[in-house]
Amino acid sequence: MNNTTKKEVKKAILSFPDTGESYEMPVLEGSVGPKAIDVRRLYTDTGYFTYDPGFTSTASCESGLTYIDGEAGILSHRGYKIEDLAAGSTYLEVCYLLLYGELPDKKRFEEFVHHVTYHSLVHEQIHYFFRGFRRDAHPMSVMVGAVGALSAFYHDSLDIDDLEQRELAAYRLLAKMPTLAAMAYKYSIGQPFTYPRNELSYAENFLHMTFSVPSETYDVNPVLARAMDKILILHADHEQNASTSTVRLAGSSRANPFACIASGIASLWGPAHGGANEAVLDMLTEIGSPNRIPEFIERAKNKDDPFRLMGFGHRVYKNYDPRAQVMREACHEVLSELGIENEPLLDLAMQLEKIALEDEYFVERKLFPNVDFYSGIILKAMGFPTSMFTVLFALSRSVGWIAQWKEMIEEPTQKIGRPRQLYTGPAPRHYVPMTERGIEIP
Ligand code: CMC
Repeated sequence: MNNTTKKEVKKAILSFPDTGESYEMPVLEGSVGPKAIDVRRLYTDTGYFTYDPGFTSTASCESGLTYIDGEAGILSHRGYKIEDLAAGSTYLEVCYLLLYGELPDKKRFEEFVHHVTYHSLVHEQIHYFFRGFRRDAHPMSVMVGAVGALSAFYHDSLDIDDLEQRELAAYRLLAKMPTLAAMAYKYSIGQPFTYPRNELSYAENFLHMTFSVPSETYDVNPVLARAMDKILILHADHEQNASTSTVRLAGSSRANPFACIASGIASLWGPAHGGANEAVLDMLTEIGSPNRIPEFIERAKNKDDPFRLMGFGHRVYKNYDPRAQVMREACHEVLSELGIENEPLLDLAMQLEKIALEDEYFVERKLFPNVDFYSGIILKAMGFPTSMFTVLFALSRSVGWIAQWKEMIEEPTQKIGRPRQLYTGPAPRHYVPMTERGIEIP
């Protein structure tokens, strides 16, 4: 359940000038952020729906996990700023924080790390399941299938009414996501799967499973491991985005957690969401050289051209995405560690950013670089192919999805999500049977 509860602070009045009637609705206040008009009884009491496609003004739930102030460029988890977490915490501590609401003490943290580490192996049969996929399948398609398939393997963590089973499902998902993500990569390049090594940290283990081969020793570079950990932290949760809302909606029907997380992965795949980091790199490659930047900026501004500047703009941030700042610094650290003095794509990205930030179109619409603008460059430098970028996003975001799913299930008033619609199809009309319309029924 949430740490703080909402409270009613005043009433809002909706008036219907045609009838002269009015309707009073409670205005709710959370701990920080905009207040919300409670419209839950609106339809029952008045017969009206609210209309908000894209949910730009709708709070779909109450949550105590993550807070974003898009105007100020602030992101915090359980009250702690993302910059501070990226600088001083680890991904597993952030996982603990998101799942349990507080920073752990030493003992609790060690227990948590033990649980997550202990479950890192996947059922051996899953290796055969992977072999059913074509080698050239996009790793995200493999992830959607493999994570959903976990529900076919772990029957003792499917009862969502049992707290212990929910905990077990959370540990399993956190522990097995890096294993599955690395397997999706290994499968695509025809290398053998690498088993996890539990003495390594979460990020180190993932790099080991992704890049080591049985025929050689592989020492994880600590700078790259720290950068990987930061990337995981930066993507851990982001309140009610498309994939998280998908997980909540799937979970609201009481589907099992593995199926819910698979639905989140499917939603994340799109280029307007998690697929953007892959799209940024494709875009930078297509631009190719700084003298072509103006041409692409013009295309992004042209309403008749579907092209958008990938890695720019955000539904919530109308300021610099705080994650982009940390990502940009991490990008420089990784490139310098790897001795990449001149990365043409990074130079291009920085020039593109500068030009866009001075352009009236982008300034007016408050379009700033988002987290994905630099993440592709850092991941490419670390050796990941572009097709793995969204998989890494899914891996990082798993904890957010699980924590949001748990929060929802543990909410006593939780009910199935069921939006309504503004119907614009034909009004009721008379049906003429097929035979009367000259169509023979076989
Ligand atoms: N390039 C050019 N114009 C843009 C862009 C862009 N990247 N983003 C928004 N606009 C324009 C848009 O055309 C509209 O202009 P107008 O008011 O003249 O019609 C205005 O800015 C507002 O855009 P919108 O489409 O109403 O904004 P939205 O909140 O629906 O879309 C977005 C948010 C992220 C889908 C969009 O900015 C976008 O497509 N960005 C590129 C894809 C991207 O980088 N996605 C990653 C998001 S961050 C990671 C994550 O959380 O998943």
